[in-house]
Formats: sequence, structure tokens, C-alpha cells
Amino acid sequence: MITYNEAKKILFNYGQEHILRYFDELSEENKAALLRQIELTDFSVLDDFRFRNDAAIQRGTFAPLGAVTVYDIEKNKNKYLEEGIKAIKSGKTAAVMLAGGQGTRLGFDNPKGMFNLGETRDLFIFECQINNFLDVVKLTGTWIPLYIMTSEKNNSKTISFFEEKKYFGYDSSYVKFFIQDMAPSVDFSGKILMENKFEMAVSPNGNGGWFSSIVRAGLLDEIKERGIEWINVFSVDNVLQRIADPLFIGAVISSDMQSGSKVVRKAAPDERVGVLCLEDGRPSIVEYYEMTDEMRTLTDENGELLYKFGVILNYLFNIDKLTEIVNNALPNHIVEKKIPYMDENGCFITPERPNGYKFETLVLDMVHMQDSCLSYEVVRNNEFAPVKNAKGTDSIESAKILLKKNGVEL
Ligand code: UTP
Repeated sequence: MITYNEAKKILFNYGQEHILRYFDELSEENKAALLRQIELTDFSVLDDFRFRNDAAIQRGTFAPLGAVTVYDIEKNKNKYLEEGIKAIKSGKTAAVMLAGGQGTRLGFDNPKGMFNLGETRDLFIFECQINNFLDVVKLTGTWIPLYIMTSEKNNSKTISFFEEKKYFGYDSSYVKFFIQDMAPSVDFSGKILMENKFEMAVSPNGNGGWFSSIVRAGLLDEIKERGIEWINVFSVDNVLQRIADPLFIGAVISSDMQSGSKVVRKAAPDERVGVLCLEDGRPSIVEYYEMTDEMRTLTDENGELLYKFGVILNYLFNIDKLTEIVNNALPNHIVEKKIPYMDENGCFITPERPNGYKFETLVLDMVHMQDSCLSYEVVRNNEFAPVKNAKGTDSIESAKILLKKNGVEL
């Protein structure tokens, strides 16, 4: 473990000496805990903030990208289905659930997947997803390996919940959990917030590190031994998420593309979703706030929006490409969030409004590292019911309405 002086030097280099303010009054155990945390923390993420390293996220020239539409998919349904089922049956696919987020907008204390949407019975978000996944198991007669990414903050609760609920009927020998990395959180002036006198406030470092965390957890060997070629990565918070969808997998494989992304038609030009497009000729996702008014409203000769396909955090990646790009740095996104912290008087505060920044890498930035990506349209009301907020848009309420529309009893 590093010494006090070594810690001081590291912190000085990043202008964060205040972290040691209470060091002298700490117990030996807490002194060691703080030094260990300093040693294990990657402070270099702070450079992006300090130097406003926007170069890392400087964008190229965008152009629209079409999609295989719902209509095209219907026409080729048998071919895609056959190809997808073949890949699943021969053990070439796995799924990764991104469940390391903190769900601060929802304001629910437990992991988001533990939220109960049921009205006359229990129906947890995790359960909705596993139910959908089980449809594919039934169709193909094959258990598909599922890797669940958690963070240090929610790992034990997530695992105990799955155990308590008997994995909602999934074969637990096909389920593995792995833990993502954390990053320090800062106040608006860039100073790391403290959770108490001996712990920095840290938060999960975004969903972009999922593959490097799989590698660090030692799971890549197992993935390769199992002969897995395709990984379907998806977010935990879409209760209509179709996981390892054979049609999607079959379409990507038949297209000979390196990856695929499910997309939905934007509800309105200014909808706040990232849009799959081309950037300097490569697939890429442009965030809603990066789009110019012109891009937002540009239409083709039929009056259809040109940048119209929004991503829903459901991607298919090829293991060879993932292995090739695992060490490529992803840009850090600096995101305003509500971060619980200890104030100057030593009181613990749970803020009502955003009070600082977290640093996150995002899985969507991996799309730009792919040589090609199949844009695959799905029917929005059948596959996209995100739970982000407690009320209003993308909320518990809207997700429940969509679940009912899809015949799910609550
Ligand atoms: P969001 O970007 O919506 O973040 O995550 P969040 O933490 O769940 O919610 P807010 O923004 O604090 O309200 C999209 C998906 O990525 C996962 C989430 O669990 C969700 O499935 N995620 C997010 C991670 O796995 N790790 C992270 O560090 C962040």
C-alpha cells in the first residue's frame, strides 16, 4: 500500500489535497482504507475536466444512415430466424446485461432491476427481462450464457435478489456476475467530493467499460472456450427489451456486418435520443445535444427525417472485434448528477439537485470503433419502454402502460 507522503504527492498533482484533510484524526483502519482507495483510483479521468479535454470527443463529419426497416425484416423473416436460431443453438451467442448504473433519476434505493412494477402480483424489472429472455430459450431449446454487470454499490444486493427469486426461472449455471470500475465524482469546481472523512465519493464509471471489466474479471477465457462469437449487450432499464433476439442476430450475421444496433423511429425531430448515423464514413451515434437544428429537421424527398433512427441500448458485437479494441480508450463524458457527499461541517448531504459531475464512458462510443454496424429497426411500442424517471416521460407509468399494451399482466 502507498504511504501518506506518496498519497499526498498523487493528490497534489491533481489539485486534490483536501482528501487528506481529516487524515490525522482517523483510526488506523480508516487511514489504511483511505490510502488504499487513493492507490486504486484512476485520477487521470480528472484531466478531461481540468483541461476540458474536448479534443477527446471532437466529432467528425456526420451523414445519415438508413436501416433495415420493419418492412424489410418482415420480408426476410424466415431467413433471419433460421440464421439466428442456428447461431444460438450452436452456442455462438451470449448476452450482457448492463446493471451497474445508479438510477439516480428514478430515485430508488435498490438496484433498478429490483423495482416492482406489479399491481396485482410481483413483477420486477429484472423479471420482465428474464421472461423475455426465456422466450428465446423456449424457441431454441438452448440456455444462453448471461453475464450481468453490477457495480461495487449494487453487486451484493443484485446477486442476493437473483438468488432469492431463483433467477426467475433461468438456469443459474448460465448466469455470471461481474463488477465494473468506479470513478471519483467531483463538485462543479472539479474537487473530488467526500462521502465521509475517509472515503471519496465514487460512482460507477459508465457502461462503456463493460468489455474491459469482463476481461479483468477473467471471463474472456470462458467466453472463448464456450465458442461464443456474438455478444448482445443491453440495458437493464427497458422492460420490453428483447434479449438475444434470433431475428436480430440472424439479420446481423446475414448482413456480414461486424455489429448491429436496434433502433426505433424517432417520435419527434427533437426527441432526446442518440441517433445512429455515419461519422467520417464509419458507424457512429450522435447524441441529441450534438445535433444541429439542420440535422434534426433534415428530410428526404418523401418528407421523412434523415436522422431518424434512435438507439435503444441493444447492440450485437463480435467477440473478435471486441478483443481487438479492448485497449482503445473511450472518451470520458462529464455528466451532471446528484451526488451524496459530506459538507465542510462533516454533515452527510443528499442533494435535491445536481451538485457535481460524474465521469462516464459509454457503450455507444464503441459503435464508432466498428467497421460496420447494421441499423435494425424495431417497432417502438413493442420493444422500447425505458424506466428512467419516477414520473412523466420514460417513467414507471409509461413503462406500465406499454407493458399492458403488450399483453403483460401487472
Ligand atoms: P443510464 O445512463 O440511464 O444511467 O444507464 P443510470 O445510472 O441507470 O441512471 P441515472 O442516469 O443515474 O438516472 C443506462 C444503462 O447503463 C447501465 C444502467 O444500469 C442502464 O442499464 N449503466 C450505467 C451501467 O451498467 N453502469 C454505469 O456506470 C452506468
